[in-house]
Amino acid sequence: MANKFKKTIITTPIYYPNANLHIGHAYTNTLADVLARFRRLEGKQVFFTTGSDEHGQKLLDKANEQKQDVYEYVSEIVDNFKLLWNKLNVSYDVFVRTTDQTHIEKVQNIFGEFVKKDLIYKGFYQGYYCKSDESYFTKFQLENGKCPICGRDVELFEQESYFLRIKQFKEWIANELQTTEMLFPKFRVNELLNSFINADLEDLSISRQNFSWGVPINEDSSHVVYVWFDALINYLSMFSYEQAPFKEDAWNQEDTEIVQFLGKEIIRFHAIYWPIILKNLGMKMPKLLAHGWLVVDGEKMSKSLGNIVDPLKVIEEYGSDALRHYLVSKISFGADGKFGQDDFKEHYNAILVNKYANLVNRTLKMNEKYFTCKVPSKVIKMELTDATIKSLTIIETKIIEAMQTYNFNAYNDLLINYLDYLNGYIDKTEPWKEENVNNRNEIIAFLMEKIYTISLFFNPIIPSATAKIMKLYKNDNHTFNELTIDVSGKEFPPSMHLFERRK
Ligand code: MSP
Repeated sequence: MANKFKKTIITTPIYYPNANLHIGHAYTNTLADVLARFRRLEGKQVFFTTGSDEHGQKLLDKANEQKQDVYEYVSEIVDNFKLLWNKLNVSYDVFVRTTDQTHIEKVQNIFGEFVKKDLIYKGFYQGYYCKSDESYFTKFQLENGKCPICGRDVELFEQESYFLRIKQFKEWIANELQTTEMLFPKFRVNELLNSFINADLEDLSISRQNFSWGVPINEDSSHVVYVWFDALINYLSMFSYEQAPFKEDAWNQEDTEIVQFLGKEIIRFHAIYWPIILKNLGMKMPKLLAHGWLVVDGEKMSKSLGNIVDPLKVIEEYGSDALRHYLVSKISFGADGKFGQDDFKEHYNAILVNKYANLVNRTLKMNEKYFTCKVPSKVIKMELTDATIKSLTIIETKIIEAMQTYNFNAYNDLLINYLDYLNGYIDKTEPWKEENVNNRNEIIAFLMEKIYTISLFFNPIIPSATAKIMKLYKNDNHTFNELTIDVSGKEFPPSMHLFERRK
């Protein structure tokens, strides 16, 4: 049932500080946080990081436009990133900024090591640059002469550059992707093979001479390393931070699980270049979980359409739990998903208010009414209780299994299923009826026990509300090793309104 791992490394992409983050970015970090919290409850040691990707010409240009020092410019936006993660309850351990000295040194060290091993060489770059995506393309990769990502115009660019050897690993990476479970969902493998690997996989240009807003190279002061070589290495520089719960040697240990979240349009970098870097450092391959994109009311979010949803506003209105729950449950992992304001409210009322908060409040109220807030001792006599326990035990096993396969949707569906059983149990046992007076002990004690269990399982998704409930049972050390807590004789509040209904 439980997996063999003792440690889990969880990373998110590091975001460009060229604008504040939107609901799509909140999706990635919510999923990563759900996994991190789940693993901690399993008793694993977790190292969870996020960060910011701060170098490159585009950011430099933006700062210049605003007549601001570039570091100051990005720092303001990075502070907003941190504020968002804080409000969203994202429990990362380390925030990597690519402008941190710790990170810069790691990039320089790996660059130096690769130059010595002839994995990086100096050459001449010729390509088409999309400023908006900070990506270079070969002529072959352009679509109708335009950027294949955003469709904008590209410029021809020629310059001396350092290159990371990629071409010679073509067979290896194709085989790795096809024969292992490294990249999920698997259908993305074929897309990669068709579009990049089988077509033309070129060595990767990783340095520039025409601007200085990048990582300076020790071996050659006229160049700076920037974009992907710089950015990807954050997944290793994170180990050098003071707050790192464990060090880089954990990466290769057999009992370490490595899970990296990313959006679909950056699969190429994570599933081709990154594994090649790792292989050459003698490091094992991670699990890459690639999610789809969030669209708003049917449209891709963009400044020009004015449909960018600010997660901070949603949190202000509904609370972080509501946003987290919506993102986890309404988007099928791997596929694109929709965000809709009306749908959000409906979902919030239907699940968090009607199914969860109601279950808790109804039960607390009955505990107050019939037992003056002190939970009676439980003796199981009713067949229905017995049958419900059996069903719930099966669901509990499935819940744990769902997260072993990173099946966030199944995990959430099972939680809803669990809530439905408990709410159905109240409806069927009708403890308010006089004829059921003798069953009240059993019904209330059983429900109070199971409210702990469902809150524990729900905790990774809605940490704020569930923490309030779990605290009523005990202060700390909540783990999946203790799914049930003896509640007989324990006093609980007379009611609790975890989520208020919205009109
Ligand atoms: N800096 C690079 C990542 C380097 S990781 C070593 C980058 N940054 S980004 O800010 O442009 O995007 C970061 C992530 O946000 C990507 O995974 C991307 O897929 C995700 N998203 C951007 N818009 C999104 C949606 N509308 N929906 C879901 N995710 C989206 O790329």
